[in-house]
Amino acid sequence: MATWWDLAYLIYTPWDVGEPPDELVELVENGTLKPCRILDIGCGTGTSVVYLAAKGFEAVGIDVSRIAISKAKKKARKNEVECSFHVIDFLNTAKLITKLPEPFNAVIDIGCLHSIPKDERKRYLTSLKSVTRFGSTFLLWAFLPASGRHQLRGPPGVSEIDVKRLFSKDFQIAARKRLDSDFRVMIFYSMKRASALEKRAKLSPENYRKR
Ligand SMILES: C[S@@+](CC[C@H](N)C(=O)[O-])C[C@H]1O[C@@H](n2cnc3c(N)ncnc32)[C@H](O)[C@@H]1O
Repeated sequence: MATWWDLAYLIYTPWDVGEPPDELVELVENGTLKPCRILDIGCGTGTSVVYLAAKGFEAVGIDVSRIAISKAKKKARKNEVECSFHVIDFLNTAKLITKLPEPFNAVIDIGCLHSIPKDERKRYLTSLKSVTRFGSTFLLWAFLPASGRHQLRGPPGVSEIDVKRLFSKDFQIAARKRLDSDFRVMIFYSMKRASALEKRAKLSPENYRKR
């Protein structure tokens, strides 16, 4: 898998737009997302990590591609910011917690989960839980599955139902926003890792009755 992404980083990376997503910038600029320890899953060439580090975050980026991480390190040096990058497959939970044992207050994923095959997404959740704590923020940008002429291009995508199924036991989806483009529809989700109490409240017989 790393080889495929490495190859992409050598020849064609249409997603690598050189700017962090607007939604991330807005949350940082309006103070909703305050400087904290933050992880970017599938950080690519590190654009968002470098932006967050410049804003005072303790920012860490991981990616399965060595070439992407090497470009990310160069970008950080050029921008003279302090942040760290690691070549790690996010689905390898054991390696992840060995390299990054301290949990993160916030985690972002801009286009990584939507590339991961459906049968491997449970491992993604296991890893996500291993790098977060109750109350941690999780921001996800993911394409919906392709339809029509776009079916042969780009990642498989993740449906909203699949996102809910995967995360709703452990994360509360606080907000979602549809981002239309000429290519595909992307959904931005803002989630918070639910505490044991919040999870119990959600599952209480009273709440079942209210449904
Ligand atoms: C569409 S790119 C997005 C890159 C970056 N987030 C951006 O917005 O420019 C998806 C990224 O996820 C990385 N990736 C894919 N599967 C991964 C995995 N299992 N663990 C870590 N990174 C992964 C790829 O190498 C690639 O850099």
